[in-house]
Amino acid sequence: MHRFIYTSTAVAPLSDQQLADIAGACHRNNRRAGLSGLLVMHKGKFLHVLEGEESRIRMVCDRIQHDRRHRDFKVIEVASIDERAFSRFTVVHETPQKLPLLGGETVLPLSALLPSNSKERGAVTSVRKAVRDFLASFSVLLAA
Ligand SMILES: Cc1cc2nc3c(=O)[nH]c(=O)nc-3n(C[C@H](O)[C@H](O)[C@H](O)COP(=O)(O)O)c2cc1C
Repeated sequence: MHRFIYTSTAVAPLSDQQLADIAGACHRNNRRAGLSGLLVMHKGKFLHVLEGEESRIRMVCDRIQHDRRHRDFKVIEVASIDERAFSRFTVVHETPQKLPLLGGETVLPLSALLPSNSKERGAVTSVRKAVRDFLASFSVLLAA
């Protein structure tokens, strides 16, 4: 199994509909591909953790890399892993209630990620560090 973590930046402010579409694609495709992880969407920045079979990660990443809604990819971790940090795939957004989600998709509020001991940051130190660094890059979230 592999884990891939990167950050990226939206090319332009994304609408709530566009963010809901991305969350929808994650739910539609990642579960089917056996991928767990986390996608934090905050103020035009993304932190993405994908875990699962290497070939499946490659397939999804190939699409994501060519997605013109974001750019400035910074790879944080590529690792061969024995254990997952997440048991499922979770999307996080500041105000999920504003997103026009289709039925069945859950998006977690950013507030769930803020406590430094939040389980939602994952069960592996390097992943928790990636989440902490990402949150700390927003001055208003410095307390995280
Ligand atoms: C920051 C970002 C993260 C994304 N993450 C995923 C993902 O984890 N899984 C996925 O299938 N699509 C993801 N997408 C969307 C893909 O780029 C692509 O639009 C989608 O996979 C197409 O799937 P569909 O044919 O089912 O609509 C992401 C897009 C962006 C901008």
